Amino acid sequence: MSVKIIGTGSALPEKIVTNDDLTQLVDTSDEWIKERTGIGSRRISTGETVVSLAAQACEKALENAGREAAQVQLLLVATCTPEMGIPCAACQVQSLLGAANAVAFDLNAACAGFLFALNTAYAYIEAGIYENALIVGSEVLSKIVDWTDRGTCVLFGDGAGAVLVERSEQPGILGFVQHSDGTKGEVLKCDSRQLKNPYISLTFDSPFVKMDGREVFAFAVRQVPSCIQEVLQQTQLDAGDVDLYVLHQANRRIVEGIAKRLGVEMDKFPMNLDRVGNMSSAAIPVLLDELNREGRLQEGMTLVLSGFGAGLTYGACVLRW
Ligand code: COA
Repeated sequence: MSVKIIGTGSALPEKIVTNDDLTQLVDTSDEWIKERTGIGSRRISTGETVVSLAAQACEKALENAGREAAQVQLLLVATCTPEMGIPCAACQVQSLLGAANAVAFDLNAACAGFLFALNTAYAYIEAGIYENALIVGSEVLSKIVDWTDRGTCVLFGDGAGAVLVERSEQPGILGFVQHSDGTKGEVLKCDSRQLKNPYISLTFDSPFVKMDGREVFAFAVRQVPSCIQEVLQQTQLDAGDVDLYVLHQANRRIVEGIAKRLGVEMDKFPMNLDRVGNMSSAAIPVLLDELNREGRLQEGMTLVLSGFGAGLTYGACVLRW
């Protein structure tokens, strides 16, 4: 018995914002952004929400898998930018989809969120609790980005990606590792609502993303290769046995650094961040869906998915397509 991805889908906001567009907002240039990050443009919401994007991505994943919304047993939304505190985004998506038989809840592990949600679904299915799960990473990061901070506003984009996983007799997910290091939470953070009640009133810094870019960069290039090595060891594979590495899309130089440490050629690291930027939990499933729809994923291929981000959180998964 295994747990296999049987469908993918994605949805992006309509508005494309180029690097040149951002020069109207902050002191930056297309050249700087491309050279330091590999990002050329990103999609930014002008009305699309975490829930509407997630629902669209889920509909496409269901269609791709040939399944109906009513068949879904578990619906997980990975997000760090939900519209509402309550109800959770997953219940709102459930309602839009008509996935009336699903148990729905959110999970926040920032940019590793999709991967952690995939693992959660895997554990539920492995334990025999559910037969299938719809997992979506959806973000409208443009809500929490400080559009006056050139160090962060050039990096992020909005979007959603989904997969449907199902219990299968065919090989699917082969192994998983996950890690968290809460002691490094300060390097990438965003405050939430203020503590304000009849007994206390606290003022936080500002409810926008703050980041120590160099620290995050160093963390990713150090920890991601080691957790990929860990999952490869667990599944008795070598780095060269993997057909494609579908990594979180944060920065081209991070991906290059990881490839170098693993000793793997860059052609095994597909990227779309030049067109979509860093979409946090949506990055991996959107890239996976693009590869799927382009016909680049052949049955039996070995893939490594790996995500990393605020928390700090990071993890990797090996699967057979
Ligand atoms: N345009 C032009 N100049 C910029 C700029 C921008 N958008 N952003 C920063 N700079 C400037 C800085 O102010 C600094 O200027 P100074 O030397 O006069 O002080 C200079 O560029 C170098 O800044 P630095 O932060 O050292 O650049 P960097 O090479 O580390 O690149 C990041 C910055 C953010 C691109 C890089 O650190 C990074 O990608 N880190 C990881 C971030 C990430 O992926 N986060 C999400 C993880 S899920």
